[in-house]
Amino acid sequence: MQIPAAKIYFPEDDRNELVKQFDEILQSGQLTLGKYGKDFEQKFARYIGTKYAAAVNSGTSALEIILRSLDIEGSSVIVPTNTFFATPASVIHAGGRVIFADIDDGLCLDSQSLETNIQKDTKAVIVVHIGGIISPQIKEIQEICRKGNLFLIEDAAHAQGSTLMKISIKEPRFSETRARQGSLAMYI
Ligand SMILES: Cc1ncc(COP(=O)(O)O)c(C=O)c1O
Repeated sequence: MQIPAAKIYFPEDDRNELVKQFDEILQSGQLTLGKYGKDFEQKFARYIGTKYAAAVNSGTSALEIILRSLDIEGSSVIVPTNTFFATPASVIHAGGRVIFADIDDGLCLDSQSLETNIQKDTKAVIVVHIGGIISPQIKEIQEICRKGNLFLIEDAAHAQGSTLMKISIKEPRFSETRARQGSLAMYI
């Protein structure tokens, strides 16, 4: 059986609008830090419910920037086994050591495995809301991080607009342990 790769549909109106805007950008000669990026950041911050949003080139960079801002160099960071390569790669890029913890039936980070994997040099934990599902054990994970004084970072690359029991990814929210940091990636 052959399963074809996903084919994304772009309506004609959208294509025409995009071509018009790309043309405007190319004519301006300004490819970064222009009005579209700024507009996107402001609208996205409003949508997510945060004061600021910073657009960067990729989800990997977003995670790396967060980890560098938390100075995790020389420390270990716990990440779930079920994630995209970008999550552990961002830890390595930022000079940290990756510790993999197991996942639960919901395919997200398991709180018990997290607890048993914490080491003396552990400084942060990255939860991944995989497939748009907010980690079902997020409250337990938050509590473990609070008690252990660990940074909790949310890799929400899959989870723009996701909610768990009316708690929305729009209200950053879970990662209030030591730092409120979320990273969201998308195709643009
Ligand atoms: C769970 C997860 N985190 C981070 C990323 C990184 O995003 P990017 O490919 O934009 O670096 C992805 C991308 O698919 C992802 O699936």
